[in-house]
Amino acid sequence: MKYRIESKAQYQTFYNNSLEDREAYWSERAETYEWFKKWDKVQSGNFNELNVKWFEGGQTNITVNALDRHVKNHPNKTAILWEPNDPNGETKTFTYKELLEEVNRFANVLKDQGVQKGDRVCFYMSMVPELLTGVLACARIGAVHSVVFGGFSAKALAGRVIDCEAKVVVTNDQAYRGSKTIELKEITNEALKECASVKSVLCLRHTGAKVEMIEGRDLWLNDLLRSASTECDPEKMNSEDPLFILYTSGSTGKPKGLQHTTAGYMLWAAETFKNIFQMGDDDIYWCSADIGWITGHSYIAYGPLLNGNTQVMFEGIPTYPDSGRFWDVIEKYKVSHFYTAPTAIRALQACDIELVNRADLSSLKVLGTVGEPINVEAWTWYNEEIGKKKCPIVDTWWQTETGGIMISSLAGVTESIPCFATLPQPAIKPVLVDTDGREIQSNPAEGNLCIEFPWPGMARTIYGDHERYRQTYFSTYPGKYFTGDGAKRDADGNYRITGRVDDVVNISGHRIGTAEVEDAIDEHESIVESAVIGIPHEIKGEALMGFMIPTNKDANSKEILKKVNELITEEIGPIAKLDRAIIVPELPKTRSGKIMRRVLRKIASNELDSLGDTSTLLNPEIVDVIIEAMRSES
Ligand code: PRX
Repeated sequence: MKYRIESKAQYQTFYNNSLEDREAYWSERAETYEWFKKWDKVQSGNFNELNVKWFEGGQTNITVNALDRHVKNHPNKTAILWEPNDPNGETKTFTYKELLEEVNRFANVLKDQGVQKGDRVCFYMSMVPELLTGVLACARIGAVHSVVFGGFSAKALAGRVIDCEAKVVVTNDQAYRGSKTIELKEITNEALKECASVKSVLCLRHTGAKVEMIEGRDLWLNDLLRSASTECDPEKMNSEDPLFILYTSGSTGKPKGLQHTTAGYMLWAAETFKNIFQMGDDDIYWCSADIGWITGHSYIAYGPLLNGNTQVMFEGIPTYPDSGRFWDVIEKYKVSHFYTAPTAIRALQACDIELVNRADLSSLKVLGTVGEPINVEAWTWYNEEIGKKKCPIVDTWWQTETGGIMISSLAGVTESIPCFATLPQPAIKPVLVDTDGREIQSNPAEGNLCIEFPWPGMARTIYGDHERYRQTYFSTYPGKYFTGDGAKRDADGNYRITGRVDDVVNISGHRIGTAEVEDAIDEHESIVESAVIGIPHEIKGEALMGFMIPTNKDANSKEILKKVNELITEEIGPIAKLDRAIIVPELPKTRSGKIMRRVLRKIASNELDSLGDTSTLLNPEIVDVIIEAMRSES
């Protein structure tokens, strides 16, 4: 494995060198990949002008690096071990050669539908192999994929399809999800009533359910794939050509389509995966995320394949047929490297330990976590019961915007510290700033987490709205990328992420913007106004709580909660449902009319001593009224 960091001393050297001369560092890394044409300039642009470019003048294709390169060297190595929702269902295996053939078939199908370089293709699927091959097929022909998680509603899907002006939508008839099925095609049909850009819908027959196919628009993907050629030349992509758009929530407005580009993202996904997970040639990796999220993009669809590794892809959920499924899958495939989210760990920790102990977990070598801060109890349980105290844990901090892991230990190479993401990856310079924007140099320290220099994997823009990209990430602390997270740094320079400092809530590792939920609630005819905050939740990490002003003063909060949750499910999806609702006559507001969510958060967590100065509120008297409303509800 070329240039893998294999000792702590080497990490230090690489890290120091990478910051001293970032261009030399990345140029050396980039040499180990395949290019149609070498780049002229390693990096240009900066955070002030927001015109960052990597490897300009170069041409490559990420699928050549993820597939063809390995097919040349080891065509029969297993790339994907696909485990279906039903443990007794038919498994599927793809060697690198077979995976390339399937990707090429799909690429030819897309071309036949008139998809050209730069066109957007939206995927609304479950974790079927065709989601992976479809995404890679887009990359093969230079189309831009935009995957929408299969748990989002028709309205949420429509919003994303409209925003990225997708030409083709790919879906399944239905998805299996544990003992349930999800009507993906029906939801797609509903969503597409509003989407004028969509010329065709490719539907995978998966469960075999009868679904409505619209004449002239919808085609069965299975038939098209069967008759398509397994040969398709890769498109020559400029380094900065877009690779994908992925929507994520922020503190304000509707979800943002973060756009990632070809070469820089490729290097970032590949290099971080290699250094952090430290996989051997015969190791088996499994990331339990869904390709609908960034983790599934960087560390299922791209990172492991770019490194020529073997991985499990899982269609199901951790609790079906019972809560021992993860551990059974690890035993079945002899998984050595397992990557999951703290919320899953906490949920499974709460179950009978026999479900863990019945499985042989001796194949495990490395454990990973991602998506939210991990609490010490969950970390300890993961370490002791799953890793049997012999597997380093990589707590990987990153974001949809960063494209890949930014802060994490390197398994077995640098130290794992409970609940700490620990150290930055080469070429990443995290900085902590205080609320006045001053950089905190000393250690230990606590502040808002920013990143100092551009890195190859960073999103380049928000699709169609570069100004919003600037406003969101680069205006709070000019010259720096602001992550939206708070962090602590210990005396040795290790980072511990403390969570979001903005109005984004992290529910089971999924980002939900409170403004987005409020917008949905405020659509309700019986709600005048609402404010939504995150509250601690034992399993989900955080849950949503709503403070609502109903039109009818005598409304009952339980009924309101039920009605509002139906609406949220329709507007966004079940993941954004509220756990709690309180009826209030008014919301605490600043004199300029902004809702003071900070005050609501303090009231909800009963930290009444630290409410701060409420006298500057437009309506300070409301604070006691809300405290009282909370008391009488609980
Ligand atoms: O708050 C941080 C949290 O997840 C946010 C990013 O969410 P998203 O873009 O959906 O990507 C999730 C998967 C990378 C961050 O702003 N987060 C992510 N990883 C960690 C984390 N918080 C603490 N520790 C982590 N390891």
